[in-house]
Amino acid sequence: MRFAAPPRHPSRARGGDLRRDAFVPGRLPDDHRAHDLRDRGLGRPGPAGAVLHPPPRGRAPPTIQEVHPPGDGPPVPVFAPPPRRGVFSLSVRDGSVRRVDPRGRGGVWARTSAVRGVPRARGEPVHGAVVRMDVAVPARGRALVRRRARHVAGRGGQLMSDPIVGIDLGTTNSVVAVCDASGQPRVLTDQRGTKIHPSVVSFHPNGSVIVGVDAKQRRVIDPRNTVYSAKRLIGRLWKSKEIQAAIGRMPYTIKEGANQQPVLVTRGGEFAVPEISAIVLDHVRNIAKQALGQEISRAVVTVPASFTDAQRSATATAGAIAGITVVRVLNEPTAAALAYGHQRQLSRTIAVYDFGGGTFDVTILRLQDQVYEVLATAGDSFLGGDDIDEVLMNHMADQFLASHRIDVRDNEVGVMRLRAVAEQTKIELSRRTRAIVKVDEIAYGPGGAPLNLEVEITRDQLVERAAPFFDKSFAVCEEALRLAQLSPAQIEDVVLVGGTTKIPHVRERVTRFFQRPPRTDVNPEEAVAVGAALQASALER
Ligand SMILES: Nc1ncnc2c1ncn2[C@@H]1O[C@H](COP(=O)(O)OP(=O)(O)OP(=O)(O)O)[C@@H](O)[C@H]1O
Ligand SMILES: [Mg+2]
Repeated sequence: MRFAAPPRHPSRARGGDLRRDAFVPGRLPDDHRAHDLRDRGLGRPGPAGAVLHPPPRGRAPPTIQEVHPPGDGPPVPVFAPPPRRGVFSLSVRDGSVRRVDPRGRGGVWARTSAVRGVPRARGEPVHGAVVRMDVAVPARGRALVRRRARHVAGRGGQLMSDPIVGIDLGTTNSVVAVCDASGQPRVLTDQRGTKIHPSVVSFHPNGSVIVGVDAKQRRVIDPRNTVYSAKRLIGRLWKSKEIQAAIGRMPYTIKEGANQQPVLVTRGGEFAVPEISAIVLDHVRNIAKQALGQEISRAVVTVPASFTDAQRSATATAGAIAGITVVRVLNEPTAAALAYGHQRQLSRTIAVYDFGGGTFDVTILRLQDQVYEVLATAGDSFLGGDDIDEVLMNHMADQFLASHRIDVRDNEVGVMRLRAVAEQTKIELSRRTRAIVKVDEIAYGPGGAPLNLEVEITRDQLVERAAPFFDKSFAVCEEALRLAQLSPAQIEDVVLVGGTTKIPHVRERVTRFFQRPPRTDVNPEEAVAVGAALQASALER
C-alpha cells in the first residue's frame, strides 16, 4: 500500500502545501502526531519513551484497593498475594463503605455517596448491592498491599530490585510502562522504538510463534492462524453470546473445550484463551526486560471496568501462565485517572472517554484526597475503531466493485488486506483531510491481469460514514451520566483514552457533548499503561 500526496485542491492552491493545510492545528499535540506512526512500529525508530510528567516532589503516588460486595469473596483484583485471606464483608456508615476482615478489624473507609444501590443507613449491612469502587489511599497511610521488594542478582553481582511493570493488555494493542526510582513513569519501547504492540499472535508454518506488529501483518496473509482480539473471549463460556458472535466474525477457528471453555484451533495447536493472552504478556514482558536490562516477573495488568470476576481471574491466569505474578488487576479507567491525576492534588469529577479498537467505555470518577471513586461506568463491547475500518473497507470495496465489477470481499485474503489498508487510511485521515489510497494487485481481471485499487477518501467522507458509531458513543455517555445522576456540565474534566480518540471529529464531538475541550496532556494510547506503572510503583514502596 502506498499513500500518495493528494492533488492540490483548486480552492486551497493559494494556501500552499495542501498536506500542511490538511492538519488541524491545535487538535493533536505535536508529540502525538509525530509519534503516531513510529509508536506503532510503522515509522523510523525514535528515542526511548517520552517523559510524560515532571519528577515527583516527595509525594507518594496513591495505592488502590478495590472493594467488592459480600459474597464475592476476597477482592479478586488483588491477585498474588491477596492483602488478607478470608471472607470480606462491607459495612456502611454515614455514606461510607468499610471493608471488614473476618476478625472484625477495619479496612478502609471510602465515600459511596454515588454508588448505586448501597443503603445509606448507619450500620446497615450491604446485601446484593453493586459496589465496585476503586479506592486510592496515600501509600504512607494504611498500606493495603505491601510486599518487600524482591531482589535479584543483577549484572556484576549487584543486588537490584525487580521492578513491577504496568501492562495495558488491550483488545487491539498492549503497552508496557514502568516508573523509575524517582517515580517517573515511562512507556517502554522495543528495539525498533515501538511503544504500541498489537495484541496479535500468529503461528507460522515453520513452527515459530510471532507476536506484535509482525503478527499483525500476518493477519493479512495467514488469517486462520493469526489470533487477535483474544480479550473479547477471555473468561467467557462457550455458550456466551460473545463467543457465539466471535465464531462468525473471527477468521480463526474457535471450538468448545473442556468445562465449557472456548478453545482456539491453530496450526500451532489448540489453545485456551488465557494461553494466547499469556503469549502477548510474555512478549511485552520481554520488551520490558530488554529495555530495562532486568528480569521482570511482576506486573499490574489492567482490564475494563466492566470485566466480571471470571474475566479478571482469567487475565491473572494468563499472567501466571506467562510466569508473571499479577500483583494487581486494575480497572483501565482508574489507571487513566491515575495518569491524569499524577502529582496533582485534584478534587474533581471527571469522565474517562475510552474509544479503543474493539470496545468503547465511559467512566465517571470522583477524585478527592487521592481517593479515586468510580461513580458510574457504561460501555459497548462491540464499538470501536474496527467498526470504522469496516465502513472504510466497504467504501473502498464498493468503489472497486463499481469500476471493475469484482467484489474484493469475496476473497478472504482480499478482505484482510483491504481492512489493513482501511485502518492505515483512517489513521492518515486523523492527520490530513484527504488521502489517496493505492493498493497494487488487489484482484485479477480477465486473463489474470492484475487490478489495482486507487481511491481518494476525505475526512468528511469518513466522518459521514462513521457517524452512527460516534453517535453511539454519546448514547453510552448519556447512560453513564444518568447512572451517576450528573449532567454533562458537571463533568469538570474529560480524559481521552484509546486510539480512536485521535480522530479530530471525535474530539470535536466530545468538546460539544461535555461543553469543554478534553484533556490532551496524557497520550490517549499510553494513559492506561502509565497509570498501571504508577500503581505498580506505589505497590513497590
Ligand atoms: N491516529 C489515529 N486515528 C484514528 N484511529 C486511530 C489512530 N491511532 C490508533 N487508532 C485506532 O485506535 C484503535 C486502537 O486503540 P487502542 O490501542 O486504544 O485499543 P485497545 O485498548 O487495544 O482496544 P480496546 O480498548 O478495545 O480494548 C485501532 O482501531 C486503531 O486503528
Ligand atoms: Mg484500551
